[in-house]
Amino acid sequence: MLARVLPLEEGKDLLPRAQHKPFPLRIIKIFLLFLSLGVVISVLSVYTTRYFDVKNVILQPRLGLIQQCFTEENEFKRWIKPPSSSKHSMNDEELFWRASFVPQLKKYPHKRVPKVAFMFLTRGPLPLSPLWERFFEGHEEYYSIYIHSLPNYKDEFKSGSVFYQRQVPSQVAEWGKMSMCDAERRLLANALLDLSNERFVLVSESCIPLHNFSIIYQYLIKSRTSFVGSFDDPTPHGRGRYNSRMYPEVTLAQWRKGAQWFEVNRELAVKLVSDTKYYPKFKDYCRPACYVDEHYFPTMLSIETPNLIANRTVTYVDWSRGGAHPATFGKGDITEAFLKRIIEGQKCLYNGQPSSLCFLFARKFAPSALEPLLNITNTLLGFS
Ligand SMILES: *[C@@H]1O[C@H](CO)[C@@H](O)[C@H](O)[C@H]1NC(C)=O
Ligand SMILES: *[C@@H]1O[C@H](CO)[C@@H](O)[C@H](O)[C@H]1NC(C)=O
Ligand SMILES: *[C@@H]1O[C@H](CO)[C@@H](O)[C@H](O)[C@H]1NC(C)=O
Repeated sequence: MLARVLPLEEGKDLLPRAQHKPFPLRIIKIFLLFLSLGVVISVLSVYTTRYFDVKNVILQPRLGLIQQCFTEENEFKRWIKPPSSSKHSMNDEELFWRASFVPQLKKYPHKRVPKVAFMFLTRGPLPLSPLWERFFEGHEEYYSIYIHSLPNYKDEFKSGSVFYQRQVPSQVAEWGKMSMCDAERRLLANALLDLSNERFVLVSESCIPLHNFSIIYQYLIKSRTSFVGSFDDPTPHGRGRYNSRMYPEVTLAQWRKGAQWFEVNRELAVKLVSDTKYYPKFKDYCRPACYVDEHYFPTMLSIETPNLIANRTVTYVDWSRGGAHPATFGKGDITEAFLKRIIEGQKCLYNGQPSSLCFLFARKFAPSALEPLLNITNTLLGFS
């Protein structure tokens, strides 16, 4: 058997060798063709360059054609251009790797207008979108929008909407599980692909803005810290959820809790998408009744960058009614007095100074709240 196979293999081997001869000639012909094309084009470009009196252009005549292809690719604009679409075919591993790129020079060589990335973490529709549309109107240069929803959800936004085609490739995210943090990191990673994005705020379909765009933008852009809620909760709902197998990456004293709805700057966003130290520990040892979305980022950031987080959130929520879920506000709750109390009656630190402007967003609002909210945006929220 073997003896019969061998000649066949040899025969196979012979074939390509026989075909080798005509190859180099064809390659040389093609090479010559390209070379002459290159010479013609470079001569032409010398001509046009002289004609238009462009100075300091170094020409390499023989590489003219090749160079032309590459100059376009290496134009500076290419490196700062945001992705043309929120869609892409990268998987998480590829996306997170790409999103972790950081320039080593701090100073940008161009006029960079920092943007706020609004990351909507939703299941499906955005019932309060008309309110947000009003909020964003006229500020196109200063924000970008990303929506993460259930993967099979098809949004119905029209081409004029700020939400049109802003859905990022999504996967199922379950409350209290690592898939929720995965979704948040996926949103961050997608938003990081746009170099102009400087602040990254996570909002839900039941969130509303409490101020006009200018106020929120200034507040975030000028802040020296990121707004991540992070505190040491000694009760069973805090320290009680710590698992000693997270040691030594996380000790009980380092264990923190905080609301899921965070706001981070670019530096911290990169840290969150490129973390490989804490991720496996939280994935393996913080499972319900340890709700990982309340612990992973607050704990990790308070260990790694304690002075870069304000330890408070900018998203108001009402836990006063008790129970496992915060209060949801509907049509009947929306009055000027109610909103004024959230907007004005607060005390916090902002850049180390006492401030009464503490919350920029609020949740949770039912779809029925939309109509009365639209009615008072003009007078109270400062946008019409
Ligand atoms: C936030 O809390 C950490 C301790 O977890 C502390 O070191 C840090 O100074 C706090 N940040 C601010 C802005 O107060
Ligand atoms: C809108 O606001 C006005 C007064 O500001 C009030 O009279 C009216 O009832 C409100 N409408 C709705 C739908 O809330
Ligand atoms: C935003 O609101 C503030 C305070 O309510 C107001 O002074 C400012 O003019 C508003 N900005 C715009 C662009 O409407």
